Amino acid sequence: MDQPIVPLASPSRPRPPVVAALLAEIARLDRDEVCQRMLPAGCYTAPEFFAFEQNEVFSRTWICVGRVEQVAEPGDCLATEVAGEPVLITRAEDGTLHALSAICQHRGEIIPCPEKGKGLRCPLHFWTYDFAGRLTSAPRMGDAEAMLGLRKSVRLPALRLELWHGFIFVNLDPSAQPLAPSLAKLEPLWRGYEATGLSAVPPVLSDTPLPWNWKVHVENFTDAYHPEYVHIGTHDFAPSVLGSDGVRFTEMKPGDNAIVRSVPMRKPDGGMMQDGWGENAAFPAIATLPAEQRARITFAMLPPSLTMMFAAGTVAYTLIRPIGAEATLAGSDRVTYGGWLLPKSTLELPDFLDRCAAVREGGSKIWTQDVPINRGMQAAKHSRFLPGGVYGPLETTLQQFNQWLLEKYRRAMAD
Ligand code: FES
Ligand SMILES: [Fe+2]
Repeated sequence: MDQPIVPLASPSRPRPPVVAALLAEIARLDRDEVCQRMLPAGCYTAPEFFAFEQNEVFSRTWICVGRVEQVAEPGDCLATEVAGEPVLITRAEDGTLHALSAICQHRGEIIPCPEKGKGLRCPLHFWTYDFAGRLTSAPRMGDAEAMLGLRKSVRLPALRLELWHGFIFVNLDPSAQPLAPSLAKLEPLWRGYEATGLSAVPPVLSDTPLPWNWKVHVENFTDAYHPEYVHIGTHDFAPSVLGSDGVRFTEMKPGDNAIVRSVPMRKPDGGMMQDGWGENAAFPAIATLPAEQRARITFAMLPPSLTMMFAAGTVAYTLIRPIGAEATLAGSDRVTYGGWLLPKSTLELPDFLDRCAAVREGGSKIWTQDVPINRGMQAAKHSRFLPGGVYGPLETTLQQFNQWLLEKYRRAMAD
């Protein structure tokens, strides 16, 4: 018997009832009110809401996938994922950088990065593409004329790519606004670092998922209220409250893609060392930084995929890739190793690896304090007693993150 023909739904609509209910709950609150309370728990737990976010947030924003150092030479390739889509970042013969879908345009196998010096070859029937995504060969697909036709018409889909201070960002949305203007407020921070030149020690993305929603992860990063209580002994050197000084927030305008705060250090030129933040930083302070930046640490969240710490001796960064409602991959000194931009003078220190080990140890001590907290926050999202939440004066960045999310959710609702 013939199957009835079911019309295909668009990727985002009609929405599953749980997503529609969550969006209705968000829509009932006006913008200011919702920024003063937490988002509904289902936004952190429902697989359907995660799928909605993959379509409407991760597929339509700039996602950081790595650094230019990882694809420095022609023939270099970086395999990654954006909103669940396999993606290849390639450096072509002419030096240009490309973001390509890794889906073979024959029948859709996933193409891996090749060995250095080889083309992009699909493992299924050996169709081969150059590093700009053009088909170069397709064995046994017909005579020379047929091959010519295929070469003319077949290429791997090219994706939007933007470089920002050596970070590679990809956007699946061809009509997305450019990234750089949305990060304008971070520009002044870079000058002192770039005067001396920086190279990346990139992190490896962990293959063990962290058992919480990606929003719990970045909320933990951006929360200026918790270090005094969670990070006793590891964060006292960089407190959110220090006499009349303390955390400074920045304004968040619609369209901004950076949520930024800075905190003072008890002494200038401190940084990460084996016990957490401390006076004797493992990475020496960078002489070309202005005094203000040698006396404070700036925490910048670039939702949804990157967090950064601008410190006196390094810019440290974490890549975040969610793979489920309650499963998030991350890579940084806290989770794996690396995620540092460093001047040559530091990279060439004879005891550089010992210094890296100290940073890793200090980062791990902080992370060990955060892990049970994040587990608790995620578990509580399933509780019938979860409160709506109250934000205090030290939690401005959490409200700003809600504002950022709402912008994306509202765009989806309006479409
Ligand atoms: S699916 Fe890639 S060559 Fe056939
Ligand atoms: Fe923390």
